[in-house]
Amino acid sequence: RPSLQRNMMMRHEIAKVTREYYYENGFVEIETPMMIKPTPEGARDYIVPSRIHHGSFYALPQSPQIYKQLLMLSGFDRYIQLARCFRDEDLRADRQPEFTQIDLEMSFVTEDDIMEMNEGYVARLFKEILDVEIPLPLPRLTFQDAMERYGSDKPDTRFGMEIQNISDLVANCGFSVFTGAIENGGSVRAIVAKGGAAKLTRKEIDKLTEHARGIGAKGLAYVRWVDEAPNCSFAKFMAEGELDAILARIGCEKGDVALIVADKDKVTLPVLGALRLLVGKQLDMIPAGYNFLWITEFPFFEWDEETQTWLAMHHPFTMPLDECLEYIDTDPGKVRAKAYDLVLNGVEISSGSIRITDVELQQRMFRRLGLTPEEIDRKFGFLVDAYRYGAPPHAGAAPGVDRIIMLLTGEESIREVITFPMNKNAQDLMMDAPTTVSQKQLDDVHILINEAHL
Ligand code: AMO
Ligand code: AMP
Repeated sequence: RPSLQRNMMMRHEIAKVTREYYYENGFVEIETPMMIKPTPEGARDYIVPSRIHHGSFYALPQSPQIYKQLLMLSGFDRYIQLARCFRDEDLRADRQPEFTQIDLEMSFVTEDDIMEMNEGYVARLFKEILDVEIPLPLPRLTFQDAMERYGSDKPDTRFGMEIQNISDLVANCGFSVFTGAIENGGSVRAIVAKGGAAKLTRKEIDKLTEHARGIGAKGLAYVRWVDEAPNCSFAKFMAEGELDAILARIGCEKGDVALIVADKDKVTLPVLGALRLLVGKQLDMIPAGYNFLWITEFPFFEWDEETQTWLAMHHPFTMPLDECLEYIDTDPGKVRAKAYDLVLNGVEISSGSIRITDVELQQRMFRRLGLTPEEIDRKFGFLVDAYRYGAPPHAGAAPGVDRIIMLLTGEESIREVITFPMNKNAQDLMMDAPTTVSQKQLDDVHILINEAHL
C-alpha cells in the first residue's frame, strides 16, 4: 500500500532527524536490556520465563526508565535511545502493545532546560519532515487550568469552545439539579457551540445527552436558540432574568447552542471536555494545523478505586513540587509533580519529569504508594543503593514515535503507521502470534498450562 510505504519512510526520516539533532546536542545513544526486572510505568508487564532459574521471570521493559536514571548516576549526562517498549494494556486507536519511544535523559538541568531541548527537537522535526514552522516557545498550561478550560489533560487547542463555570449564577436558582450539585460540592458548567443551532437539532442534542450519560453524566441541560426566544430545557425552573444572566455570562446568542452539566467536577469537566470535541468535529470547527502545548504540574498521585490505594500518575521517581512536600502524608491528592506532557492536537505525544534524587524522599514516596520497606528493598534496592553514592539532579522525557507519525500523516489509527502491527486483541494474524508452543518448550521453562484456563 502506498500509504504504508510513506509511513515507513517517515519513520526512517524521523530516526535520521532525531539522531542528528540529539547527537549535535551532545547526547550519547546507549542501548539498554530488553529482558529486565519489571519497571513501574503502571501497565501490566509482558513476562518471559527463565529456563535456568525455575519459577523466575524476566519482564520486557515498559520503558528504559530506571536504566536511564542509572546512566545519569554513572556520569553520562545526556542519553538518548530509540527504545522499544512493551505494555500489556487495553489497546486503543493510539496504543499498541509494542511501540517506540525517543527516550532521553539529561543531568544538571531544570524543567525549562529539558522543555527547551524538546521544543527545539519538534521544531526541527516539523521543519525537516513537513516544512512547517512551529513557533517557539510552545505555550504552557497547568493540569488544573487544562482541566477547567478544556476538561482534558491533553486538550485540543486548535479551537475554542472553552468550558465555563456558572455555579455562582445558579447557586440559588429554582432548579434542584443545579443547586443539588453545588450543595454536594460540585459545580455547574457549560460550553457554547457558536452558530451550532442549525446543525444541533433536538435529535442531535438527544444523541449528545445519551453520550454524556454513557460517560457518567446524570443528564445534559441545554439552551438551543433558533427563533426569537431561546429554547431551554430548564426554563420552567428559572426566575425572571436568571436565564438571561446565564446566557450573557457564557456568550450564548441567537444561532448558538449551550450544553450544561451539573455534577462533581470529576464528572462535569471530562464530560464537557468530551462533548466539546464531539461538537467541534460535528460543526467542523477544528482547523487543520499543528497545535502544541505543554501541560505542567500534574497531580503526583491518583486514587485507585479498585485497589483503594494511591498510584503514581506518572511514575514513582517523579519529583513533587517543593511547596507540596508537606502534603505527602497528610493530603496526597494535593501533591503536584514536576511532570510535563507535550500535547499535539489533543494527543499526548510525550511525557517526562524531573526525578527524585534524594533517597529519603524517594523512600517516603514509595511508602506512600503502599510499598513496605521489604518491598522497596526487593523491587528497587539497587536503585536506592546507587543513589547513596550521590545522584546529579536529572530529568527526562520520552516522545512516542508512533503517535508522532500518526499525527504527521493524519492517520486515525496507530496501526496504520506500524509495519507489522497487532490487531485490537494483541494478535499478529499474519504470523499467527501469540501461539501455542510444544510440550518440550514448556518443560524447558518449567511451565504447566492450567487446562481450566483454556
Ligand atoms: P509514558 O508512559 O507517559 O512515560 O510514555 C511516554 C510516551 O510513550 C508513548 N506511549 C505509547 N505509544 C503507543 N502505544 C502505547 N501503548 C504507548 N504508551 C505510551 C506516548 C507517551 O507520551 N519513562 C517515561 C518517560 C519519562 O519519564 O522520561 C514514560 O514511559 O507518546
Ligand atoms: P428533569 O428535571 O428531569 O425534567 O430535567 C430537566 C433537564 O435537566 C433535562 O434537560 C435533563 O436532561 C437535565 N439534567 C438532569 N440532570 C442533569 C445534570 N446532572 N446536569 C445537567 N442537566 C441535567
